[in-house]
Amino acid sequence: MHPDWAIATEELTRTFSKPRRRRGRWGLQWWRKPATENESPRQQNCFQGEDSNSFVALDRVTLQVRRGELFGLLGPNGAGKTTLIKILATLLAPTSGRAWVAGWDVVSHPQAIRPYINMVSGGETSGYGILTVRENLWLFARLYGIPTRLAYQRIDRLLAVVGLEDKAHTRISHLSTGQRQKMNFCRGFITDPMVLFLDEPTLGLDVASARTIRSFIREWLHEHPGRTILLTTHYLAEADELCDRLAIIDQGRLLACDSPAALKRLVQRHPRYSLHLTPGANGWAPLRGMSVIHNLEVIPRVGGVEVQLALRDEGAIGPVVQTLLQQGAQIVNLTKLEPSLEDVFLQLVGRRWEGDDPDGVLAAAQPRTPNVP
Ligand SMILES: Nc1ncnc2c1ncn2[C@@H]1O[C@H](COP(=O)(O)OP(=O)(O)O)[C@@H](O)[C@H]1O
Ligand SMILES: [Mg+2]
Repeated sequence: MHPDWAIATEELTRTFSKPRRRRGRWGLQWWRKPATENESPRQQNCFQGEDSNSFVALDRVTLQVRRGELFGLLGPNGAGKTTLIKILATLLAPTSGRAWVAGWDVVSHPQAIRPYINMVSGGETSGYGILTVRENLWLFARLYGIPTRLAYQRIDRLLAVVGLEDKAHTRISHLSTGQRQKMNFCRGFITDPMVLFLDEPTLGLDVASARTIRSFIREWLHEHPGRTILLTTHYLAEADELCDRLAIIDQGRLLACDSPAALKRLVQRHPRYSLHLTPGANGWAPLRGMSVIHNLEVIPRVGGVEVQLALRDEGAIGPVVQTLLQQGAQIVNLTKLEPSLEDVFLQLVGRRWEGDDPDGVLAAAQPRTPNVP
């Protein structure tokens, strides 16, 4: 494994056996339509393995994560994100292929890897109910050999970050689900791991808490150069905002891996603009004649129209605006349209992203753009 890589996988595959068919009360099998050859894996509801009793949750995934990187695994529910993280965290054995973390092979040297890693799963609410938040975190830190004084320093800081100071002495059985999740988030950082796996860390949290957690993740990496975070999410805006690079994964397969900006460039070969305007005497007709315009879409809006156009290059926007003004048009607003990761997913997978966007970040910041050649 290359010394600059914190994590690497090579043709990593994991299959699971399919659950047995349920039998009815009288020992009869429930009727089940057999999958046909023409059905997509999604229609068959699984990705068929080599034999019909297994399906592939992770399919020959090869990737490298550099030291110091905040690397994202973005994929819809059931894509295989948690399976991959569990293999890297030495909790699950791969079926085939290889994986290395901090230079060690996950199969042959799991014990060597464990002191260097930590893992937090969103939605996880583990811990000892009769212990308080502070006691739970202290216990966990001691299991990793962190001296008590240092452990309490880190605990108090982290509890303040997630806004749980006032619950420090509350038994965790008295916490809400979100509060327990925040406590578990703190647990991930207490050991100061070289490689931290965050599996959907903001899942189900309110908007403000999710924002706090995202900004802390960035801050922590900034303060601890050389530490690496592998984060999974099915929130597009979160992946876009946080990750240095990300891998898009669907149905166990890695579809693309690059920085969010580079991934977006994949789907947009021409700069796109939106002009909100009141058309002049000749409407927007003069634009149709301009050779620079690659695509023109006109959407009726209150007090005028919105014209969305793709230009051959950035320099063409000047002449377009000039022509419109000469025609007597009044331009109310001019916006450059950026493609979103949703567009990237659509292009790669051929279907729309079905996940949610809890912050509304995507909707607010990036108007949905039609696919343009
Ligand atoms: N222990 C298991 N046994 C059987 N199937 C599993 C098991 N763990 C995960 N799967 C299946 O593997 C696929 C990928 O799951 P997972 O990695 O949890 O996806 P994600 O985290 O992207 O939502 C899903 O279809 C899931 O049902
Ligand atoms: Mg998962």
